[in-house]
Amino acid sequence: MQAIILAGGFGTRLAPLTYTKAKPILPLLNKPMISYLIEALPQNFEVIVAANYRNEQLKEYFKEMGIKAIISKEPKPLGTAGAVKNAEKYINDTFLVLNSDIISSLNIRKFIQYHVKKKAMVTISLWPVKNVEEYGVVDLQSDGRIRKFVEKPPRHEAPSNLINAGAYCLETEVLDYIEPNRFVSMEMEIFPKIIEDGKPFYGYTFDGYWIDVGRYSSYIEASKILLKKRGIKYLVGDSKVEGILKESTVGNNCIIEKNVIVKSSIIYDKCIIGENAYLENCIVADNCRIGKNAKLKNVVIGEGEKIGDNVVIENDETWETIWNKPLPEGYPDKQIGNPIKR
Ligand code: GDD
Ligand code: MG
Repeated sequence: MQAIILAGGFGTRLAPLTYTKAKPILPLLNKPMISYLIEALPQNFEVIVAANYRNEQLKEYFKEMGIKAIISKEPKPLGTAGAVKNAEKYINDTFLVLNSDIISSLNIRKFIQYHVKKKAMVTISLWPVKNVEEYGVVDLQSDGRIRKFVEKPPRHEAPSNLINAGAYCLETEVLDYIEPNRFVSMEMEIFPKIIEDGKPFYGYTFDGYWIDVGRYSSYIEASKILLKKRGIKYLVGDSKVEGILKESTVGNNCIIEKNVIVKSSIIYDKCIIGENAYLENCIVADNCRIGKNAKLKNVVIGEGEKIGDNVVIENDETWETIWNKPLPEGYPDKQIGNPIKR
């Protein structure tokens, strides 16, 4: 069986981290987040990675890990359905489509069994949330059939609190719904059309956990949940840590000096954090330097940036990002795809 991993978004909600790294490669407990998805797939799956932005990093990852995968490159971003259509030549039977920014306990085998039992054309995984306006929301019948799918509705128009959890089991007929060589959204165009046509469209709910890693807060939350699941308070790679880490991760070749406190944060590789610095809810990309006595809260620092000694940047609800270089060529200045309507 084949699984298409959707890995071609720009990850604009995670900029500046995604200015230099493809979203699926961003580290989560010091491992690229896509590796959690790969590990959850049963062995006999053929992996097709639908990519374009920074696809060379994805190629490199699969090569390094010795994992066989087809990298299906789009000439330009084609959206969540366009990317699937673009990979049509690799598909020969019932197949999976998986968002690459989700960590979950979805049991893939049971998910497929359910799809087969229901004789569905489309089955999507579902998860209950409070902030429905940030997701695709469904109206689910008691027999599991979905009556309505609406992408990122205003909260008061959401048909329920059950959202599209980002894993689909699809019959090849779905491919006929997608026009080739055009930007097509699975969520905004294809799913509503299939439901409208009265085709068997089902939802599969599951237990355990579901974490969306697509935003700063949920990225940090995901890291904390995974630490807790492992029963550890922090994780450090091959680095020198003299300060205190709480619910945080530190990659390789970092130096965390004396009296530093790092709380609820993610530090990538090759970073230096000077004496007495305090970091809370921060994400620090590779090769950053943070000066002595700096105090940072809710700050996301792009690769290779420097924060001087004694600098204080404290936010509560909002986030501040640090990036002093030009934007990478071709990077969009706003979210494309399925943005939230406000
Ligand atoms: N190849 C390719 N090409 N992949 C893409 C493209 C594209 O043009 N656009 C987005 N993707 C990938 C992203 O990398 C991500 O893995 C997945 O498709 C979904 O895109 P996001 O940009 O992360 O969408 P979202 O988070 O706003 O919403 C989606 O996920 C929610 C669950 O987290 C939707 O599917 C919602 O309905 C869903 O609830
Ligand atoms: Mg997402």
